[in-house]
Amino acid sequence: MTAPATAHGLLSGLDEIADIGRDARRGGYSRHLWQPADLELRDWFTGRAVRLGLDVEIDRNGNTWAWWGPRGDDAIVVGSHLDSVPGGGTYDGPLGVVSALDAIARLQASGFRPARPCAVLVFAEEEGSRFGIACLGSRLMTGALDAGRARALVDADGISLEAAASAAGIDPAGLGEDRAALARIGLFLELHVEQGRGLIDLGSPVAVASSILAHGRWRITFTGEGNHAGATRMTDRRDPMLAAARSMLAVRDAAVASTGSRATIGRIEAVPGGTNVISSQVTVWLDARAAEDAAAQDLVTEITARVSAAAAAEGCTAVVAEESWSGAVAFDEALRDRLVHSLHGVPTLPTGAGHDAGVLSSRLPTAMIFVRNPTGVSHSPEEFATLDDCLAGVAALEQVLRELL
Ligand code: GLV
Ligand code: MN
Ligand code: MN
Repeated sequence: MTAPATAHGLLSGLDEIADIGRDARRGGYSRHLWQPADLELRDWFTGRAVRLGLDVEIDRNGNTWAWWGPRGDDAIVVGSHLDSVPGGGTYDGPLGVVSALDAIARLQASGFRPARPCAVLVFAEEEGSRFGIACLGSRLMTGALDAGRARALVDADGISLEAAASAAGIDPAGLGEDRAALARIGLFLELHVEQGRGLIDLGSPVAVASSILAHGRWRITFTGEGNHAGATRMTDRRDPMLAAARSMLAVRDAAVASTGSRATIGRIEAVPGGTNVISSQVTVWLDARAAEDAAAQDLVTEITARVSAAAAAEGCTAVVAEESWSGAVAFDEALRDRLVHSLHGVPTLPTGAGHDAGVLSSRLPTAMIFVRNPTGVSHSPEEFATLDDCLAGVAALEQVLRELL
């Protein structure tokens, strides 16, 4: 879609950032908070916003705002994020940011002037890829994440969030609940590429979100006995890698047994991590999700029991520690219905993916517009959306903004 997008002058923002943060090893993009690619993306965003006559500011939690007209409370705020998972795709996050800017550009070109404050908002670290907590910027803003805990988070290189914030020009003392910022948001709209196959089945280029699964992340640490791969008899081992292997199957089995639930181990670290070394410790990260809070918590209780049994069977121990939790979200019904009406009855769709709009929904009305994903693949370099569907998303956002503003 690159050439046509450029040729139309629409969604050209995706082309402008196409080379920022490419990951040659994993494929796709690795764009993580306050690292060079993220800073370059923020510069790009600022430049593009300024070209549209918007007024850019960065809040105390590192979220970037671009105001169309005067700043003020009770604004219509539209946005998403620019960071990615490791080896992520083109659309998850950036499509929402680019579409917001394009929708404003189209409104401006038509001579429309907002009657109430309006801003584009780019949240910091939605994916949690650097510091492990998804929706970091919105969690800090709402106070869902304690500022002291956030400052102490460390990345894979041992750099604390406090130090990384300082290096990026954000005062770590200012992190935390930001009531002034929340007061500025009358309602928040997030356009996002769909991350499943829902819109294929519904035969529509766009939908309005209805709900988000309850979800969370847990760190599971298996401890055994580090030893020599050649000199240690197979019967004499306490190998935490085997405890982890048994646990991965147990995680899958527990999720399958809980209808509609999902559980994933997508990340593993072995200490010390040598080919000829039996590990002393193995850490895996669990992502578990379900339609209801209780179902997700029950699933994790069941997984914890199975993981402990798996570790014991290998002479190891297992410790399960929660890193983050997001309760199920039912989006504001009045706002959802208003969007469906202004978009001539487009379908509504639940999602299994987490979003800043979900975090903010505990404090103010939020809504999401999904753009069809023709393969349903996301969090992958293969993630895709057609130009026509992306343009349908921009048109939907323009229409909704025209009515709300
Ligand atoms: C974010 O995309 C998530 O659902 O983890
Ligand atoms: Mn994502
Ligand atoms: Mn996203």
